[in-house]
Amino acid sequence: MNILIIGSGGRESALAYKISQSPKLSQLFIAPGNAGTTQYGHNVPLKVTDFDGIAAFALEHGVDMIIVGPEEPLVKGIHDYFLAREDLKNIPVIGPQQHGAQLEGSKDFSKQFMARHHIPTAASRSFDRSTLADGLTYLEYQSLPIVLKADGLAAGKGVLICETLEDAKAELTAMLADAKFGEASSTVVIEEFLTGIELSVFVLTDGETYKVLPSAKDYKRIGEGDTGLNTGGMGSISPVPFADEAFLSKVEERVIKPTIDGLKKDGIPYKGFIFIGLMNTAGDPYVIEYNVRLGDPETESVLPRIESDLLDLFSGVAEGNLAERSFSVSPKTAVTVMMVSGGYPGNYESGKVITNIENVKESIVFHAGTTVDEAGQVVTAGGRVIAVTTLQDDLFTALQQATADAGRIFYEGKYFRTDIGFDII
Ligand code: AMP
Ligand code: GLY
Repeated sequence: MNILIIGSGGRESALAYKISQSPKLSQLFIAPGNAGTTQYGHNVPLKVTDFDGIAAFALEHGVDMIIVGPEEPLVKGIHDYFLAREDLKNIPVIGPQQHGAQLEGSKDFSKQFMARHHIPTAASRSFDRSTLADGLTYLEYQSLPIVLKADGLAAGKGVLICETLEDAKAELTAMLADAKFGEASSTVVIEEFLTGIELSVFVLTDGETYKVLPSAKDYKRIGEGDTGLNTGGMGSISPVPFADEAFLSKVEERVIKPTIDGLKKDGIPYKGFIFIGLMNTAGDPYVIEYNVRLGDPETESVLPRIESDLLDLFSGVAEGNLAERSFSVSPKTAVTVMMVSGGYPGNYESGKVITNIENVKESIVFHAGTTVDEAGQVVTAGGRVIAVTTLQDDLFTALQQATADAGRIFYEGKYFRTDIGFDII
């Protein structure tokens, strides 16, 4: 099979790594990819939302399947675009159509979906500009802290946790009346604050049945001890020790099954990943959010643990017979440490030469924000630069190995957290 992966981050590197191992693979393309994805396939200089360009490339190169990494092309309808064109409709796309992608593209849509299908989540109400006054009154009756969420995609910045009523009122006004997050905050979900420990569960579905992929936990804050600004994710571990069999069976019964059944009942076709962000509150799961893609850096920990042929699973998704595909997971523990540019998630410089990757022997080096400069050197090209993943028999060994291997790679201004996963030991 000829495969085209859409995206350029650590997640797409991990997808490329895993797919490159498939005996079913002929040619692998990654659009646009990064400096590391060339070890698994050919980079194609196309933007992830350039549907015309992606379509032309797919037809010209006999692409048999498209695997979409990030949410933006899905929310913008790449799958619908392929289905709508006679010459493209037989090229399967892994990732939901626009309707299903609303589970991530609109928090209000996802809250209504959960309410309709009795899926446990924080109590909430939505307000728009015309109901701002009601929203301000509603806030007065809520306990603190309180969570405000911009309805639409806001590059991971649209969630605010407010500690005081004054702050909550000011932020609600800024979001609704002053378009703090642009069009994304024209509707705001006000949500009860949940306490507990967060983790993520990933599901692959053909719309009828599903496979539950390994659970993972990511570390979102920039600073050690989970302090400081939020980032896209500074590291991850899989499996999650506190997500034991009892908890995961609650997740399956209360969240996963009603989600898949709910999509069917609502007539929403769905072929792709569902990333379920969960809060474990006193042993019970509550959904914090759905994403319609894999997480980054969770993917870098999750995919190396999957022993089955990922392309075979994707074929099952495309053909609607996922249930017949074999699926097995390694009992080993994966740890991913994300190396970032100095200054991230604020301003940072790019173009720093990266060296000594070859010194890493016991971990997989997944490139994220990297490129090759005019002199042919591998240089930094983003906030999150490289994800170092190791797979070991136990968590402690994995934590030490991944942290040590991140220390072996160099570039000016490099930073990574040395405490990923140690909170759990
Ligand atoms: P989201 O963009 O929905 O993933 O939210 C970003 C982060 O905000 C989550 O990963 C949680 O840490 C936090 N968060 C979101 N909703 C809640 C909630 N209802 N209670 C507590 N924390 C939340
Ligand atoms: N690591 C969180 C995300 O991918 O959304």
